[in-house]
Amino acid sequence: MRSTGVVLGLFTAYHVADLTVGARPAASSKHRHGDAYGNLVASLSRPSVAFFYTASMAALAGHMIHGVRTAAMDAGFTSTEQRAQLIEAVAKLVGTAVALGNVTIPVAVQAKVVR
Ligand code: HEM
Repeated sequence: MRSTGVVLGLFTAYHVADLTVGARPAASSKHRHGDAYGNLVASLSRPSVAFFYTASMAALAGHMIHGVRTAAMDAGFTSTEQRAQLIEAVAKLVGTAVALGNVTIPVAVQAKVVR
């Protein structure tokens, strides 16, 4: 949890510098304030950045799976073995779905489906 949290903290700092602030070299040289779509495409057209975003989503999946599982445990939803198994499945489903959903964005830009 701590290691994936550190990765996500670094990712978020880079991400805000890239797409919100437009600070180079995090942002692409084509960055224009207010052009959210153009900035996203320009940034994720860089293969190394697309790879970094994709890899960071693996950390997001791990972080969310552990987070959902732990939150459910803390709230007392895992009192029986059956419930614990259900929570485990839900945690894996939610974490994987969110991360895979996000990964479609850099993949779509690299595949030039989004351009
Ligand atoms: C592949 C995954 C992701 C993509 C493609 C993406 C894309 C974007 C875009 C297009 C913006 C708007 C930038 C702007 O015009 O200001 C944004 C903002 C932001 N994103 Fe993401 N995002 C992703 C994942 C994440 C994750 C996992 C987090 C947090 C852990 C996150 C945190 C933020 C934050 C804090 C902002 C700034 C919001 C603001 O300026 O008000 N993003 N993201």
